[in-house]
This record gives sequence, structure tokens and C-alpha cells, in this order.
Amino acid sequence: MEKRIYNEETIKNIGKEISISGWVDTIRSHGKILFIDLRDKSGILQVVVSPQQEDVYDFAKEIRPEWVVAISGVVKERPERMQNPNLATGKIELEAQKIEVFSNAETLPFTIDSDGYEINEEKRLKYRYLDLRRGRLKKNLIARQEVLYFIRSFLKKEGFIEIETPILTKSTPEGARDFLVPSRLQPENFYALPQSPQQYKQLLMVAGLEKYFQIARCFRDEDPRADRQAEFTQLDLEMSFVEREDVMEITERLLINISRTIFPTKKIQEIPFPRLNYKEAMEKYNIDRPDIRKDKKDPDLLAFCWVVDFPFFEKDNEGKWTFTHNPFSAPKPEFMEDLLEKKNIKNILTTQYDIVLNGFEIGGGSIRNHRPEALESVFEVMDYRKSEIKEKFGHMLEAFKYGAPPHGGIAWGLDRFLSLNLNEPNIREVIAFPKTGDSRDLMMNAPSLVTEQQLKDLHIKIQVRKK
Ligand code: AMO
Repeated sequence: MEKRIYNEETIKNIGKEISISGWVDTIRSHGKILFIDLRDKSGILQVVVSPQQEDVYDFAKEIRPEWVVAISGVVKERPERMQNPNLATGKIELEAQKIEVFSNAETLPFTIDSDGYEINEEKRLKYRYLDLRRGRLKKNLIARQEVLYFIRSFLKKEGFIEIETPILTKSTPEGARDFLVPSRLQPENFYALPQSPQQYKQLLMVAGLEKYFQIARCFRDEDPRADRQAEFTQLDLEMSFVEREDVMEITERLLINISRTIFPTKKIQEIPFPRLNYKEAMEKYNIDRPDIRKDKKDPDLLAFCWVVDFPFFEKDNEGKWTFTHNPFSAPKPEFMEDLLEKKNIKNILTTQYDIVLNGFEIGGGSIRNHRPEALESVFEVMDYRKSEIKEKFGHMLEAFKYGAPPHGGIAWGLDRFLSLNLNEPNIREVIAFPKTGDSRDLMMNAPSLVTEQQLKDLHIKIQVRKK
């Protein structure tokens, strides 16, 4: 066989002998001639098998959809009336001279030539590797890659350093429920998977890195929804010696640039992005992530807005003060005195800014408390005991004693941002291997039981509950 080339490259090889490899998308006969549409990563190419090539023809008749094959032959221009303008390779076809079968395929559990929305989702997720053969999902994964690549090169040019932070970390109250990982070497102790790299990125600021970013995997043991997964991805960034405006400016510039470069059919409703404060948003829209689109029927309209000036604290179910967004946030400067003196609590506003797109919160961040006494005050307002503050956040308070720069940052929910740009109704459509609505991976069958020995190694005993 000739050296394999991609289907998309065949257009440049008219008259030449080449070889292609991939999956049989469809196979049909017209009169005596067999047509095989062969699919590879780059697209589809029509292959013609004529009865004159007797051996090849008899062999090809046995081939079924989704078999994996290599076909060599000569690239020919199609007669004008046979050309297919909807296909990148629609002007040509391959005249098969030799076919090799790498593997057969059973009939797939569902079709992959539709957009797939009509298929039972559990089935799609159980066979995700087949679902991903679908053009729509491949397109989404490629768009995701384009966005990640763009972000990386944009932020690198802006002087940011991409730094990976640990996945096995400490359980601290950060808003959601933690996923815990038992430690074998430290019996009775647990790691937590990070809800976000929040504390590490702040510690990187103390370390003097000044401009950090990460495409960060985050884990939150929450009930999934259309825009929520237990495991999701953030673009996380943090900067030193900045104010709220600086973080908002770079966020806005990056969002506009991504949209113009990667989603050029999208129209941004208003630049600069309008800003609402929390009070206005609640009064006018009764929600803190308003959908301000002027035309909700237009699928290509992106209506970004900022929401700022949130209250720092709110009362929880037990009547205790708790943070509304992030315990590490600084209050707006005019409320710093109040925070330090722990007075006027209900009126303290935070430096928090949320970025909202078409009614979805796609990101949020703030300027942080870099003075240990201010951070300590936050926990005292929330009625944490001194010992508890030390146990949970002592490492942060200590770090801030050794010269902490003023700093702030933001994190975007990348899955949400992508699903909105790709007009997908659910973030699962932009994630390669998402979990179901009850956080199971049906393909791998996770979570699953483990052996007695594994539990023993982890010093864990399962207590079977009596029904
Ligand atoms: P926050 O908790 O607001 O902030 O998260 C930032 C953004 O992440 C997205 N998001 C999610 N996406 C999918 N599934 C989820 N379960 C999920 N939870 C959140 C949202 C959200 O706006 N450390 C802070 C950021 C900072 O202050 O710099 C943080 O994590 O789009």
C-alpha cells in the first residue's frame, strides 16, 4: 500500500496513486458500481469500486458500515454532474485498486449521522466513544481546542505563566461539598479534590509569580444540572498589584478576541460590556445573572454583562453570617474599616465581579484580602473559632505574613462559555467524557465498588446500612 494520506489531502493528488484509511461511513451500490464513503479525522472521501476490478469488487461487497479499512487507488476528478458541492472532497473520488480490512464492526447501538439530540442520553454516554464519531461532537471538541490554544497564546503574550497546581489537596470550606480521597499513608486522613485552585493561585502571588493562569480541572460534589458537572474546567487566573478594573479589562479583551477569532459569526451585543450592580440587577431582572439579550431569538447574539457590588455576607439557614461568593475576597476599599471592626456587616460590599453571558454566569472573581487580619476578620464574622481558622486556613494567614502583594483574579467556567458559543443546550455536549445527571460515568462504570483489600489498605470499613 501507498503511504497513507488524509482524506482532505486527496484534492491535491488528482491523478496520483494514494492510500487512505478510516471508517466506512456508508456503502451503497448504484447499478453495478459500489460507492464507499470513507471517513477519517479530516472528513469524508467517496471511493468507487467498479466490477471490472473483480477481486476488489467481490471483497468490497462484504464490507459493512464502521469497518476500519485502508483503501488505495487513483484519485480521479468526478464528472461535473456527479460533483457534490457539500463535501470538501466533492469534486473528486478514489478509484479503488486495493482494500485492506483492519477490523470489522458490529452494528452500532445508535446512528451517528444525525446530531444525536434525539437519542437517549444514557445510551450516548455509555457508548461515548461512538457518540464522539458524530460530526457535531467532533466539531465541538475541535472548537474547544481552538479556544484553549487561543487563551494560552494570548495570556503568554500578556506575560502570564501557566502553572499546574495539585489535585490532591486539603478540604476547606469553599462553598460546595468536597470530593474526598482517603490517605493510605496517613490513616484516617483525607485529601480533597480542589473545588478550584483558589488558594494555590493566591500562594503563587505570595511566591512572586505575579501573573498566573491555568486551564484547571475543578471538582464539586454538587447535583449536576445542564450547566453544572461534578468535574468541570476553569480558565483560572490571578494577578498581583492590580485593581478590579485591571482584571475586568483583560477578561473583557480576551473574551472579545476569542469571539472575533474563533466564533466570527457571533455578534457581541455591546462593547464595552455593560455593568450592573447587584442591587440594580435584582430590582430590574430579579436575578443576579440577567439575560440582557435584546433579541432572544437570535442564536448568534452574545450579550455579556458584568455584575458588581455584591453584598459580602448573607445569613445562612441557621442565621449565621456566611460569604456570598468567596471567603478570600476583599471588601470594597470603603468597607475595609467595617470588616476589620466587624460592624455594619450586612452592608459590606465585596470587590466580587461576575461575568454573565446570555443569562449564564460564565465567570467570577475578586480582589483578595492580602492582609492576614482582614482575612481573619472574614472568618470571625462567620463565627469560626480561632482554632478552626488556624486549622482550616492557617497556611494562608501565615503566608500573608511574609510579604503578600495586593492581588486579584477571576475564573471562567470554560464548559459554560463553550456551550453558549456553540449553541449547545448542555455543557455535556462540549466535554469529551461527561458524567450523567447523577454523576455517573456509564462508559467506565464509575463510581464502582472496590475490593476488601483496597478498603483495608485505606483503613476504611463500609458500614452496611440496615434497610
Ligand atoms: P466560582 O465558584 O464562581 O469561582 O467558579 C467560577 C466559574 O466556574 C463555573 N462553574 C461551573 N461550571 C460547571 N460546573 C460546575 N459545577 C461549576 N461551578 C462553577 C461558573 C463560575 O462562574 N476560585 C473562584 C474564582 C476566583 O475568585 O478567582 C471560583 O472558583 O461559570
